[in-house]
Amino acid sequence: MKAVVLVGGEGTRLRPLTHHTVKAMVPILNRPFLEYLLQHLANHSVDEVILAMGYKPDSIQNHFTHAHGLPVKLVYSIEPAPLGTAGAVKYAEQYLDNTFFVLNGDVFTTIDLTAMLRFHKESGAKITIALTPVEDPTRFGVVETDNRFRIKKFIEKPPPDQVTTNNINAGVYILEKDALKNIPSGRRVMFEHDVFPELLSAGDPLYAYPTDAYWIDIGTLENYHRLNCDLLTGKCPHPDPKTVRPVPPESSFVHPQARVQGPVLIGERCRIGYGVQIIGPAVIGTGCHIEDCAIIEKSILWQHVTVGKNAILRNCIVASNSCIASNSALEGVTITPEHKTP
Ligand code: GTP
Repeated sequence: MKAVVLVGGEGTRLRPLTHHTVKAMVPILNRPFLEYLLQHLANHSVDEVILAMGYKPDSIQNHFTHAHGLPVKLVYSIEPAPLGTAGAVKYAEQYLDNTFFVLNGDVFTTIDLTAMLRFHKESGAKITIALTPVEDPTRFGVVETDNRFRIKKFIEKPPPDQVTTNNINAGVYILEKDALKNIPSGRRVMFEHDVFPELLSAGDPLYAYPTDAYWIDIGTLENYHRLNCDLLTGKCPHPDPKTVRPVPPESSFVHPQARVQGPVLIGERCRIGYGVQIIGPAVIGTGCHIEDCAIIEKSILWQHVTVGKNAILRNCIVASNSCIASNSALEGVTITPEHKTP
């Protein structure tokens, strides 16, 4: 079985993190996000993934070209310019068989893709769209179905008095290749706004697959932070629990008078100084230096971050190679190397 993963968006909602790192490669518990997606697909019998890339493909290709033990075969489909979600799949058409998955490359979910595929086959759908419930559907596009889950209507951002369902498109699809037939080549086309409504009005069988599985779109700073915390606290089951070590690796030094409390992941070659307090959930990436008496609470530090003496970080995300000045106090902010702390 093959899957297309869409990793070509600009990730504007995840700025400033995406100035340096494409969205699909942001670290989740010290591993690039895309690795989790590939593992999840492999767990559901996907053996080949086409990465549909429209924007800064180099960092993704460089990473996976040098990676060992990948769970799936990778094929790179690089658009000359971003073609939108459906345009990107059309561009990759030559690599596809009859039935295949399409996943947004910014969605983390534990959805049972095997069961979804079974449903797709049994219903005779041309396209099956996974649905996930959200508290406030008025900011999203909702999907209405009949009692056999055949899609009746797509409603973009319904006003509160017209909300009949809180199920939104989860960015996980199964398609029959035939569904690509009428998509024009070389043009920007979106599944959500163009293809799905057109097929529906042509009477094609579009089905929905509602799921209560864990689901989050990591495309905002808040959600990115939340996913790291949910995996550490166990609110979301880790797809590969043995990779999360409860004790710091041998290559890292933690001063005996530092205090590490709650779920905290410490990467390789870190130095945690005297009197430091790290209060989880928190992630400290490879090669970080936390100087004496600093406090880090509920924060995500990428690689090679230096935190100066007595600095305090609460609810922060700190991109690789950033330096936090001694004695600074920061709360709820995202810091990149360009950021000057007071
Ligand atoms: P924002 O700019 O923050 O909205 O991010 P985005 O454009 O990356 O994400 P959006 O939620 O609009 O897109 C959903 C998924 O489709 C994401 O995984 C994107 O990476 C991907 N995507 C969006 N546009 C394209 C495109 O033109 N080509 C490809 N290959 N993927 C795309």
